[in-house]
Amino acid sequence: MIYCFSGTGNSLGVARRLSEALGERLLPMTEALGTAPDFASPEEPLGLVFPVYGWGLPRFVETFVEALPHPADATPRYVFAVLTCGDDIGRTDRLLSRALARRGWQLAAVFSLQLRNTYVCLPGFDVDTPQVAAEKAQRAEAQLEAIVPRIAAREGSTQADIVPGACAGLKSYVLRPLFNALLISDRHFRAETVRCTGCGRCARVCPLHNISLDEATRTPRWQGHCTHCLACYHACPQHAVAYGFFTGKKGQVGINSYFRGPQGAAKDNL
Ligand SMILES: Cc1cc2nc3c(=O)[nH]c(=O)nc-3n(C[C@H](O)[C@H](O)[C@H](O)COP(=O)(O)O)c2cc1C
Ligand code: SF4
Ligand code: SF4
Repeated sequence: MIYCFSGTGNSLGVARRLSEALGERLLPMTEALGTAPDFASPEEPLGLVFPVYGWGLPRFVETFVEALPHPADATPRYVFAVLTCGDDIGRTDRLLSRALARRGWQLAAVFSLQLRNTYVCLPGFDVDTPQVAAEKAQRAEAQLEAIVPRIAAREGSTQADIVPGACAGLKSYVLRPLFNALLISDRHFRAETVRCTGCGRCARVCPLHNISLDEATRTPRWQGHCTHCLACYHACPQHAVAYGFFTGKKGQVGINSYFRGPQGAAKDNL
């Protein structure tokens, strides 16, 4: 069983590929939140696929893991995670391992894959050029091909399977709490009303149903339970969604699975 969270489609593409290659069921974390996994057998693995946000777990994924019921039986089960990122994961593997351990699950293997970057909210961060994104996708494809048989064989992972990056501890244990406290919120989102056509796509793609359209003005309203996936920003056909003061000239990636080309369906996320 593979649980996936994805804002803009990178992780969904990976999860779909794993699900097909391993013959495992794929479930959106948004739908499975708080429910006990109904494993068909003691051999069935538990897989988690999600993006790295601020060198750690997306807040929604933290909530998902915190709500994961303790294992129903005493048989040790193979638990693996595949993390997608733009550059590096810091100590996300350790944060995840501890969060799972608190719920009674033991993480056996963690892999990280670099894919197109989606973070644009601070100065100095922008989407990748098409060439860089394509190179990352190609490398990720090759890595996935190598990972699948290892998961199938229930192998553990090593440090070589992840990219912590420089100053990993500083990023995950010092910068991350600041990032979460100051930036992981929807209070800095707004729609540029001169551009917004009221199409509602931002609301449709939000995996947490955190956006409603104002009945009178047809502009989006953020409802306060955002995990900062930026799907609303990247999906807007008018580039009308802004976050703070730095996103006006930044690029957009759209919502898609990188395995299926640049233009995905409007609700192609989890
Ligand atoms: C709020 C936010 C924070 C991010 N933080 C990181 C990070 O710490 N390290 C990194 O390499 N990529 C980071 N990224 C990039 C994403 O992890 C990466 O693009 C991921 O594959 C997106 O997956 P998705 O399309 O499934 O949402 C961040 C993206 C967002 C939106
Ligand atoms: S997707 Fe863009 S244009 Fe459409 S309602 Fe949202 S902000 Fe407005
Ligand atoms: S409001 Fe936007 S950034 Fe927040 S969870 Fe929804 S789509 Fe993601």
